[in-house]
Amino acid sequence: MNRSPHLPLFALPGPLLLPLRFALLLVLAACASTDGPGALANLADCTEMVAGGLRPLAAERDQRFNGKVGDAVARCRSGDRAEAFRKTPYVDWSHYWGTADETSWFPGSTGVGGHLSANGRGIDGALLDLEYQRMELIKFNLFDNSGTFSEFVLGRGNVPGAALKSWGAMRLPKDAKQYAAVGGDGPQLCQGELIRFRNLDGTCNDLRNPRMGSTGMPFARNVQFEATYPDLGRNELARNRHGERLSLLVPDPQVISRKLFTRAQSQPAKCNAGKGLPGASTEAECDYLKAPFFNVLAAFWIQFMTHDWFSHLEEGHSQPELMPMGCARQRVVGGVGDVERALSADEIKALGCRPGDRIDRGLVAQDGAPPEFMANGKPQLARAYKTHANNVTGWWDASQIYGYDETSRKRVKRDPKDPAKLLLLPGAHQGAGEALGHLPVFGVGDPITPQWAGQEATAFPDNWSIGMSFYHTLFAREHNAFVAAFRAQTRATPDADSGLRNPVRADDVIRYRDVSDDELFEVTRLVVAAEIAKIHTTEWTPQLLYDEPLYLGMNANWSGLLAGHEAVAAALEKVVVQNFGKSENAKKATQWYSALASGPGIFGLGSHVYGDDAVFARYDPGKTDLWSLKNPDHVNGGINHFGSPFNFPEEFVSVYRLHALVPDLIELREWDVDANVIRHKVPVIETFRAKATLAMTDEGAANWALSMGRQRLGLLTLQNAPQFLQNLELPRLDSATHQVDVVALDLLRDRERGVPRFNEFRRQYGLRQLTSFDDFVDARLPAGSPERAEQQRVIAILREVYGQHVCDAGKPITEAQRNPDGSTINDCLGHPHGSRVDNIEDVDTVVGWLAEYTRPHGFAISETQFQVFILNASRRLFSDRFFTSSFRPEFYTHLGTRWVTDNGPDGKVMELGTPNGHAVPVAPLKRVLLRTMPELKPELDHVVNSFDPWGRDRGDYYSLRWQARPGAESDPAFKPTR
Ligand code: HEM
Repeated sequence: MNRSPHLPLFALPGPLLLPLRFALLLVLAACASTDGPGALANLADCTEMVAGGLRPLAAERDQRFNGKVGDAVARCRSGDRAEAFRKTPYVDWSHYWGTADETSWFPGSTGVGGHLSANGRGIDGALLDLEYQRMELIKFNLFDNSGTFSEFVLGRGNVPGAALKSWGAMRLPKDAKQYAAVGGDGPQLCQGELIRFRNLDGTCNDLRNPRMGSTGMPFARNVQFEATYPDLGRNELARNRHGERLSLLVPDPQVISRKLFTRAQSQPAKCNAGKGLPGASTEAECDYLKAPFFNVLAAFWIQFMTHDWFSHLEEGHSQPELMPMGCARQRVVGGVGDVERALSADEIKALGCRPGDRIDRGLVAQDGAPPEFMANGKPQLARAYKTHANNVTGWWDASQIYGYDETSRKRVKRDPKDPAKLLLLPGAHQGAGEALGHLPVFGVGDPITPQWAGQEATAFPDNWSIGMSFYHTLFAREHNAFVAAFRAQTRATPDADSGLRNPVRADDVIRYRDVSDDELFEVTRLVVAAEIAKIHTTEWTPQLLYDEPLYLGMNANWSGLLAGHEAVAAALEKVVVQNFGKSENAKKATQWYSALASGPGIFGLGSHVYGDDAVFARYDPGKTDLWSLKNPDHVNGGINHFGSPFNFPEEFVSVYRLHALVPDLIELREWDVDANVIRHKVPVIETFRAKATLAMTDEGAANWALSMGRQRLGLLTLQNAPQFLQNLELPRLDSATHQVDVVALDLLRDRERGVPRFNEFRRQYGLRQLTSFDDFVDARLPAGSPERAEQQRVIAILREVYGQHVCDAGKPITEAQRNPDGSTINDCLGHPHGSRVDNIEDVDTVVGWLAEYTRPHGFAISETQFQVFILNASRRLFSDRFFTSSFRPEFYTHLGTRWVTDNGPDGKVMELGTPNGHAVPVAPLKRVLLRTMPELKPELDHVVNSFDPWGRDRGDYYSLRWQARPGAESDPAFKPTR
């Protein structure tokens, strides 16, 4: 099943395309197919596709591609597999050959084959579609909220907006500590000590934009500002779209939660609202819908990531004022228009919601009328109607571990015996990892809110549970492992060059023995942050999106599509230099940049500078590397913000509201007895806050790793929210119940922050709208199948909750998309004027993406969420110099760059065999686990991806089957009833 790495045809611009097209035509015509009989059936379609060339990028927002290709293209890549589904709103590529498990292979083929085989065409086609999506997203979906948007649209002087590289709004203000050091009132440039490491508050990542991504900067948006805060009805389109139907508490968030989010329980008493049974008895049972290819480690991983990336809360709080959370009204369906009416006491009881719940109102940074500017003769908003601050750094800098401001840094405890290390105290359990230790608990004088008392000390302590405790322990051990390796190297070669440099004395070699404790601490932070980014990009995400195109796509983001194919990479570099290096059309170059980066990969972009090459050069030991620490354009040269300063958008936070991933009970196992036996069922709520700390030290990290590694996480779908999160006790709230329903709060917070509702959200992101609730049902399911009936049951509840209205075809509702015939989309969504249509425009975005039953193979998330990731997952790499041009020994040390590149100190280690047809290095989290919990080696020997349930047999090509691997057959998780 081995195959050659993919040449990204889509990455080749104009001049290279003509000969390539010709060559392709020849090859297509001449090749005796490897696919078996019938493979040439689509030759005419492929010829037509190739002759048609690449589609141009959409000129206008409403002309976007929407993941929908032409008929010939679809047939060339999928025969008639896609045909039946091409009219659904969902993207085409998920039907292409080779993009799912073996059943997606071209009939008669016995492997994926080369690029021109049917399967190869399918996979390349999917990658091509995905790259188009990314380029369109870069073009149409960047909306900075910090005062630069008018320049993005209008440009500055002769420079088009998308080519701008620095902004006045990214200057440090007068009251900033480093104001004078970066240049004060004059041009600002970070230098010297300020550029050496990841600064605590996130400043000076970009030398010329010191403030970008720093703590307290506003969240950006990915949607037109006019589309935000739809329930305010500030413009005609929003009023037409939603009538008078929406407000903060309408439709009622707790009613939505209870009807659409609650997990059905076959034995409610044994679940006990998520609290399980006394003594963590194995008799407890909380049903949940499980994903067969993704484990609980993956659920907590992503929570751990979000704590690094963003926080709307400040020190675990929002505004002092409390607000109601619903459980008051519901929609009554029927008649000409549905109406809202108060819930009766009986209805409240039946639903199980709580009218007495209260929560602190969300923080708002700005809410005055936004400034406007004129563009193309039309007034446009310069920011959203309100803005909200990101209270941690926006960078992927492990700020949840190391801090994001002075207060959070005081919570980070260093080892007095070796201040380059984090303080870890020996654990009580046996096991080599336990000897590496556990985090100390907060003590007197630590700056914490009372709710965090008794927890392990770390920078970001909120919503602590066993999952957070686990990852903070893991990376504290990894931090210390790096320091220990560095110390060992220092002992072995004290006078050797460590690679580190101080920009103040850039020519002075810093020997191992010269590296100070503080320097080593900060170097280690760089290494750990890069490892985390690598784990997320190359291990977590390919398991979240478990199919071949995404495996290739994510590895391309990190290390390029062309690893091992330097000749092709060199050709790409030439193309870049010749076509875009001197391009007058900077805007065009900016959009191609993302495609071109799939050659060498984003990570390390610009970290080597060669005389005749652009930033896309791969490392070449045969050439002289001109990169210089003294040259800010080298230090900073690999980053690209695409004309819009980096921060996460509100919409990104919304699609990370992944509470459904968490089970109510964790099935506790012990590594040193029999991993197949479940010894306890520990309610997650019994590990909330300080209880996590006890659970961690009582059981030891390896038992938790094994338990969360073996257990499947919750499917991201409707009616699958953890019971304990619907009933979470927050004693800090001065309310009647001291409780909140976290999943109802998910909706409330999105409404407070003006996230557009689901259908407009999709249109804004370049995905086809839905025209009725029935579009949620997966059209691939046979009529009459139990799965289809179940989806229809849930969708009927969706209709009951959100209702219907009589539509008015005279009311346009969006500028972001058009009907397929080019006409304006109106309130009737293609249905006759005056008919009753579903209120699909009102569906909260979280509800909408949870309701998307139609997903590409192996997708644990919906295509709507994925669209948000395509843009932001690559942007947070493209924008960060420590992941691009400053990934250098001058910052990371020689040991540090090797550690990140090879996943550890002892060189690259390859996995046995070729999982899914690829020779792969042992994955980075697996390596971290082996280092920090070596007692797990016998279990980890079976693991390829740490986020795939550890007892599962991965089978062949992207199989999702739930079956035990050899040795795990007796694990009760594989009993047919579970
Ligand atoms: C033990 C498990 C968890 C608990 C107790 C918990 C609790 C909470 C609470 C109380 C909030 C509301 C904060 C507010 O707006 O006032 C929240 C927000 C959030 N949670 Fe969770 N959560 C858990 C797991 C997860 C997981 C697994 C994810 C996955 C990504 C996640 C993602 C989020 C996000 C994105 C927010 C919004 C944060 C923000 O607005 O800055 N949570 N969580």
